[in-house]
Amino acid sequence: KRKVTTHRLKEMKAAGEKISMLTAYDFSMARILDNAGIDVLLVGDSASNVMAGHETTLPITLDQMIYHACSVVKGVDRALIVVDIPFGSYQGDSREALKSAIRIMKESGAHAVKVEGGEDIIGSVDRILSAGIPVMGHLGLTPQSIYKFGTYSVRAKEEEEADKLISDAKLLEEAGCFALVLEKIPADLAKKVAESISIPVIGIGAGSDCDGQVLVVHDMLGINNEFKPRFLRKYANLHEVMTHAVSNYIEDVKTGNFPSDTESY
Ligand code: KIV
Ligand code: NA
Repeated sequence: KRKVTTHRLKEMKAAGEKISMLTAYDFSMARILDNAGIDVLLVGDSASNVMAGHETTLPITLDQMIYHACSVVKGVDRALIVVDIPFGSYQGDSREALKSAIRIMKESGAHAVKVEGGEDIIGSVDRILSAGIPVMGHLGLTPQSIYKFGTYSVRAKEEEEADKLISDAKLLEEAGCFALVLEKIPADLAKKVAESISIPVIGIGAGSDCDGQVLVVHDMLGINNEFKPRFLRKYANLHEVMTHAVSNYIEDVKTGNFPSDTESY
């Protein structure tokens, strides 16, 4: 199995080959996704929501992200593993940003980091890249800035924010980022960005003209069935499957039907 590298992703874009990406936060899930052939696994700070039960991505810590990253790394042979640097660990201080990125790389064995923002954090991006650590950008609806936006609705619908997003995308490309996530923006704008930069653009709620797609794995597997934005396609209803399995187990325990003689020593 040929390992996926940042270089390979750029080749895929050039060849018009779409890139598949999903989040993962633990060993067992990472193993399933990697064996299925996923190209990129993101240890997303969405772990704050789906793993820790927080309302936003802001509370998750660098130590917690590293714990998730270590677990994912152990389950993966082929996929490229990217780790979100959490809120408060890279903004406004490029030295702190580099320290955070180095901790992630050293302590987890992941292959790259992701940060949210453009011009505002370009100093941090530059410094992380200067240490030879690959950086993935993230523009559009960047959840770490939810209190600035005030809402999870579509970003960059107006010309001013769209122009700013395009210039930020170019800035991240020029800095040397290997790829860029675009979240919840109009499909036309995402298409324009994907066409105007040479690094792969991975979309989530950004239409079909991106160079690849990413979803939160718990959402696409239907494990949590409360979150249903338009961009989410559900590939399974694990909430139902798991509820059914657990109900059957409870019933078997209560009735004494489990364990049977063959399940006993
Ligand atoms: O944390 C996350 O899951 C993400 C993806 C949605 C891109 O950043
Ligand atoms: Na994230």
